Amino acid sequence: MKTPPSQASLSRREFTQTALLTAGAVALGAAAPALSAAGAAPRRIRTAVIGCGSVSNQYLPVLKRCPFVELVSVCDIRPERARKQAEAYGVPHHHPHIEALLAGAPFEFLIDLTDMQAHEAVNRRALQAGKHVWSEKPIANSLAAGQDLLRMARPRKLRLWGAPITVQSPQFAFMARKIASGELGRLAAAHAFYGHEGPDWSSFFYEKGGGSLPDLAVYNLTSLTGLLGPVRRVTAMLSIVTPDRAIHEKGTIRVTEEDNAMLLLDHGQGLISHVQSGFNYFNPHGHDGSGEKRHTIQITGTRGYLGLVGYDWAPQAVEWATPDRPALVRESTDPGGYLWQQGAALAAECLATGRELLATPEHALHVLEIITAARAASATGRTIPLKSTFTWPLPV
Ligand SMILES: NC(=O)c1ccc[n+]([C@@H]2O[C@H](COP(=O)([O-])OP(=O)(O)OC[C@H]3O[C@@H](n4cnc5c(N)ncnc54)[C@H](O)[C@@H]3O)[C@@H](O)[C@H]2O)c1
Repeated sequence: MKTPPSQASLSRREFTQTALLTAGAVALGAAAPALSAAGAAPRRIRTAVIGCGSVSNQYLPVLKRCPFVELVSVCDIRPERARKQAEAYGVPHHHPHIEALLAGAPFEFLIDLTDMQAHEAVNRRALQAGKHVWSEKPIANSLAAGQDLLRMARPRKLRLWGAPITVQSPQFAFMARKIASGELGRLAAAHAFYGHEGPDWSSFFYEKGGGSLPDLAVYNLTSLTGLLGPVRRVTAMLSIVTPDRAIHEKGTIRVTEEDNAMLLLDHGQGLISHVQSGFNYFNPHGHDGSGEKRHTIQITGTRGYLGLVGYDWAPQAVEWATPDRPALVRESTDPGGYLWQQGAALAAECLATGRELLATPEHALHVLEIITAARAASATGRTIPLKSTFTWPLPV
């Protein structure tokens, strides 16, 4: 993915305007203690980042300019990466593993950008050590393990959040409000897709605990469940199209997890959606979403149609039509400061101010259950009922 955001620094007010927290905070009735006296500096959350690979180049510039974050330490089991990012972003401390990080300079918030397979153990260790956690997806390897992490966090008054944050975009809010207005009639069907040729910098994407579902489909699954509601049952077909991959510094590796996925989701009341994703999609825009002009999310009801222009992690506009306005109307073209790599900075803002994100761990874990159910469905040819849910509709 994606183009690094501008390095320009933001004032607290500008950042908050881009932070997209307001609607959720108000609707959730979250305690929102005054930031500080008018004009005073906001509370900065002492923050550490673990995992200094590709995506850290996206997170660190956003964290660096976030007025609610004080970057204290970075950590990577490849110590040269931690040192390089510490130097590049002026972070005072760098460490070669999590125990050294925890024993080092004090901090309260850990951002986990490690391999997908490492998240569960890293998140657990951080919670045990009394840290709030933001995790790249997935939060854990299974619904049960993720719920266990939440059970650990709550009595300790610790927060746990997970990527992605597609529900925070203004385009998501526009679509959610359009659906809630009833203008589209009774909803029947939805389709979403996301894919590219697949990463070539790390093998974990293709190994057990990886796969295109937790790396790519997770965005569409978060958006569709956010818009249409929790899923009751799932069926799927998954496959491996490219069994061998060339990975930098490693050579050719064997692919063991799905690199091609088709899911059918039952949202109840007759509403069915479909998600397709994979690491074998010719994509002229590569990992940069700005060139994608198709409707990557399409929602159809008895009296209307909604299409999201661009990917849900980098949305550009919403187009919609109803019998009264049958030609597509283009709206919600303002990005409103939304950035897919902003989630951890928004979480720090929550810690500093008491406001709330629309993205919740319960929603992330519901999406994780869909992913594990899709694998079970594909392996057995069955439709798998789900156990988890989350509070819906979201208070956009
Ligand atoms: N790269 C992207 O553009 C992108 C975009 C969105 C989300 N993500 C997600 O971000 C996460 C990381 O992806 P990436 O592309 O940066 O991978 P990467 O391989 O480039 O970086 C991961 C880093 O984590 C380190 N690491 C692994 N286990 C560790 C541990 N136990 N302790 C400390 N460091 C550890 C590795 O040494 C490596 O430097 C994944 O969950 C991925 O799905 C990546």
